[in-house]
Amino acid sequence: MGSANVDLVLPVQRIPRPGETVLASGLTRGPGGKGANQAVAAARAGASTAFVASLGDDDGGALLRAALDESGVDLSLVSSSAKPTGTAIITVDAEGENSITVAPSANAELKLSAEALQAVSEAKIVLSQLEIPFDTVQAAAEASSYFILNAAPAAELSDELLGHVDLLVVNETEAEAVGGPEMASLLRRVPAAVVTLGADGAVILSRDAAEIRIPGVSVEVVDTTAAGDTFCGVLAASLAASSTTSPVTGGDLTNAVRRANVAASLSVQTAGAIPSVPHGDVIDARLAEVYL
Ligand code: RIB
Repeated sequence: MGSANVDLVLPVQRIPRPGETVLASGLTRGPGGKGANQAVAAARAGASTAFVASLGDDDGGALLRAALDESGVDLSLVSSSAKPTGTAIITVDAEGENSITVAPSANAELKLSAEALQAVSEAKIVLSQLEIPFDTVQAAAEASSYFILNAAPAAELSDELLGHVDLLVVNETEAEAVGGPEMASLLRRVPAAVVTLGADGAVILSRDAAEIRIPGVSVEVVDTTAAGDTFCGVLAASLAASSTTSPVTGGDLTNAVRRANVAASLSVQTAGAIPSVPHGDVIDARLAEVYL
């Protein structure tokens, strides 16, 4: 469940400072949005995936529907809004780092229909982020049997929401917004968390087990856009494929984080959001090289 945006990508030498103008070397338009990227990542990694989202009845909506459909994502729970499809302006610098501004538009209209609520309550795993209304995230969290929250963009979150989160996925900035400067403090608020560390891999925190560090995978970075989304979608797909998901601890979670980490390292080697999301066979071939 989550946002879907048309990404307008501007490659620049460096991201402008406040008040500064820089010239881009081009402009591309492609499908993205944290929710859509995660849904595509889950589907391409092999999970049976339905997407709950709100799209405009416009060109952008058509672009996203085509990209999601092509990846095998079930679109029957996607609603049409009178507002335009969400748009993201993404500047990507010479090192592949980005800066993103989102106009939520149709994403801000997303509510759970009776049909979507039913699907959410029946799903093995529900994955959401925070580019849609908090009330909708809260309703899905309450209805889910296993709820993964990717707390992006960074936000202060209520105990009411976090009380329904089974697994939190955050980067270091988001971890600080939720739990404060000590990573381990996240466990005061959620039973388990994965903190992504970019090129340095990820850390798994769980109330039931010792901290586990998954090392990073060294690659040439072209564009980091959607690396975190690829991580989350592949993590959810890998957990859905494991025999037990509640609670997800020990080996299942470790293996899922390894696979997600490798998938994210593949995504940063290609420009764009959805175009950069790898398929399961490519992930698994690389996984065998990296970890076995
Ligand atoms: O995480 C990357 C995504 O953030 C982009 O695709 C953009 O649309 C924003 O949602």
